[in-house]
Amino acid sequence: MLQTKRTSLRPFTITDYPAVFEFGSNPEVAKYTGDALLQDPQEAKDIITNIFESDYKKYGYGRWATVYKPDNKVIGFAGLKYLPEFDEVDIGFRFLPQYWNKGIATEVSLEIIKYGFETLKLQRIIGIADPLNLGSCKVLQKIGLQFYKSDDYNGDGKNYNYYQLQKENYPPKV
Ligand SMILES: CC(C)(COP(=O)(O)OP(=O)(O)OC[C@H]1O[C@@H](n2cnc3c(N)ncnc32)[C@H](O)[C@@H]1OP(=O)(O)O)[C@@H](O)C(=O)NCCC(=O)NCCS
Repeated sequence: MLQTKRTSLRPFTITDYPAVFEFGSNPEVAKYTGDALLQDPQEAKDIITNIFESDYKKYGYGRWATVYKPDNKVIGFAGLKYLPEFDEVDIGFRFLPQYWNKGIATEVSLEIIKYGFETLKLQRIIGIADPLNLGSCKVLQKIGLQFYKSDDYNGDGKNYNYYQLQKENYPPKV
């Protein structure tokens, strides 16, 4: 479990499914992510079991529930995910729109990359974002990742921006 000033990051459990459904069924949240919108709360339960908890078991980490402490509410996810198709570890985040532009992604991501390099001893962390997703591209750069290529990501025919931070450049001089 990680703590920041305004948030706690902890593993998802199945009882979080209403919160996962809330952000997973919001079209604004999915606008640039390519995620299919959830139609049924059962799909949120499946994501918790088959993706979040499966990643914790397989790799020891995964996307975490982000609890916004002032409201004691799960507002989305943030965390690292191993991408077997690229053999890379990706930092990612999704929050409910009413919590955007308050610096929450920046705050939690700084703690997540610290955990990635100092605790997990990762060599490199990447971030992938639709170039039109200006907020996400901005956060990745604010926390020290640098653009390195524009490429396909999920076969949707679009090019995504790839950012990276190597262990030797951590902590970044920002
Ligand atoms: C992307 C996301 C996680 C960012 O979270 P956040 O908590 O709002 O991020 P922060 O407040 O820490 O930083 C956002 C930065 O982007 C900037 N920004 C946001 N929208 C912008 C826009 N349309 N144009 C330019 N800058 C923008 C903000 O001004 C801020 O920069 P600043 O601190 O220099 O002012 C959030 O918007 C989200 O959940 N989006 C939906 C899911 C998603 O797209 N996830 C990323 C997938 S790659």
